[in-house]
Amino acid sequence: MKLCVALDLPSAGENIALATALHDYDIWLKIGFRSYIRDGRAFIDTLRQINPDFRLFLDLKLYDIPNTMADAAEEIAELGVDMFNIHASAGEVAMRTVMERLQKFEARPLVLAVTALTSFDEAGFRSIYGAGIDEKAEQFARMSYENGLDGVVSSAFESRAIKAATSDSFLTLCPGIRPFGEDAGDQQRVATLELAREEKVDFAVVGRPIYKDENPAEKVAKILEKM
Ligand code: C5P
Repeated sequence: MKLCVALDLPSAGENIALATALHDYDIWLKIGFRSYIRDGRAFIDTLRQINPDFRLFLDLKLYDIPNTMADAAEEIAELGVDMFNIHASAGEVAMRTVMERLQKFEARPLVLAVTALTSFDEAGFRSIYGAGIDEKAEQFARMSYENGLDGVVSSAFESRAIKAATSDSFLTLCPGIRPFGEDAGDQQRVATLELAREEKVDFAVVGRPIYKDENPAEKVAKILEKM
């Protein structure tokens, strides 16, 4: 299991200070919409300067027509990040078009699909997708696997079922991890590291339990030790 630290602080300066404090560790960093829209490529270059071995996950959740998604995927690969994501509901043609476009890269980034946004409740999800969350999430995971993606973003509680429906090597990246049972914040269902391990989670995404800690570096050390 790998630790992926969410750089969710409100300014580039604070995110850079956090990354600097964590420069010694073998970790992934998650860059979201807000910081990428505001701080762009320069932010990614700065993170690489802090530690060239940081692995970077660009969490932009692409959703558009297949050719436009492939164009964006190509630009993301040019940025040199190690992983990005798309919405599974963009469809199979979009998945294949993205994966085909990335073939020209010797070392392409990993591509994950978002199955169901956790902000949906069952009724809201059903009104858009015409099926329940569990059923659709598993179908989306199988579809992503069959079309050559590397994995999905999921809840830790679904990780094992997704691997059973696809392959053990199909990656799961799971937010909502509270390594030592910390405050859940706005997350509805949170998992500890033990549960994440039992569920064969590949990437544990952790935000607030690290950046709200008095000593984020010490906290990361403890998490890595436990992992
Ligand atoms: O602070 P916390 O550990 O809850 O942060 C989790 C991170 O994972 C945040 O960046 C959040 O936006 C993201 N995320 C999530 N649930 C999803 C997808 C992404 O919490 N379904």
